[in-house]
Amino acid sequence: MTASTDWHDWHLPYDDDTSPLSRRLRLVQQHINDWLDQRPDSSLRIISVCAGQGHDLIGALAPRSDADRVCAELIEYDPRNVAAARMGITAAGLNGITATQADAGDFAAYRTAAPADLVVLAGVLGNISDCDVRATIDALPRLCASEATVIWTRTRRGPDLTPAIRDWFADAGFAEEAFHAPPPDVLFSVGAHRFHGQPQQAPPTGRIFTFAA
Ligand SMILES: C[S@@+](CC[C@H](N)C(=O)[O-])C[C@H]1O[C@@H](n2cnc3c(N)ncnc32)[C@H](O)[C@@H]1O
Repeated sequence: MTASTDWHDWHLPYDDDTSPLSRRLRLVQQHINDWLDQRPDSSLRIISVCAGQGHDLIGALAPRSDADRVCAELIEYDPRNVAAARMGITAAGLNGITATQADAGDFAAYRTAAPADLVVLAGVLGNISDCDVRATIDALPRLCASEATVIWTRTRRGPDLTPAIRDWFADAGFAEEAFHAPPPDVLFSVGAHRFHGQPQQAPPTGRIFTFAA
C-alpha cells in the first residue's frame, strides 16, 4: 500500500470472484463459519479490527440461521467504508452487528467490544510497521476473552514476516489452529490462532498501532 491508498476503492477487487482478495475473503469466511460451528454458546462477541466494508463477517453471517447469537463490532476509520458496512448489515438483517467509525489503533476503540470471543485482523498486519505487528499481537490478550480465536491475514511479500508473526502469537499465549499459504500465484496468507492465556484488562486509552497512511 502507498501513502495515497484509497481505502474505499481498495475494496473493488471483491467484485471479481477470481481476484486474490476474493480468494482470501473466502478463506477468512470459512474460518468464521468453522469457528461458529465449533462454538455452541448462545451469545458470542466479535471484534473486527480495521473492518473496511465488513465483507468477511457480513458475508459469513448473512446466510446463517444462528447469526442472532453474534454481537459484533466492526471498527473502521474511513466513513465511506463505515457507511457501506452499515448498508450491508441492514440489507442482511444482522441486528447484532454495528459498524463504528473509530481509530482501531487505540485501545479506546474497544471500550464496548472487548473482550471478544473472535477477533478478525484481516488486512491489518500488512499495513503497519513490523514493530507494531508485534505490539498488536502482544495487545491481543487485552482484547480477547478466554479461549478466543484470532483470524488474521498478512502478505508474504518479501521479507516474509509470517514466520515471526506465528512465533509472536505463540509468545503471547496463542496456539496455531491453521495457517494457509496458498501457491505462489498469490502472496496472501491466512492464519487462525486460539488464545489459551489469561485475558487481561484493556486500558481505557493507549496506542496499539499506527496504520500506514
Ligand atoms: C486493507 S483494508 C482491510 C479491510 C477489511 N478488513 C478487509 O479485509 O476487507 C484496511 C482498512 O483499514 C482501515 N483503516 C485504516 N486506518 C485505520 C484506523 N486507524 N482505524 C480503523 N480502520 C483503519 C482502512 O480504511 C481500510 O478499510
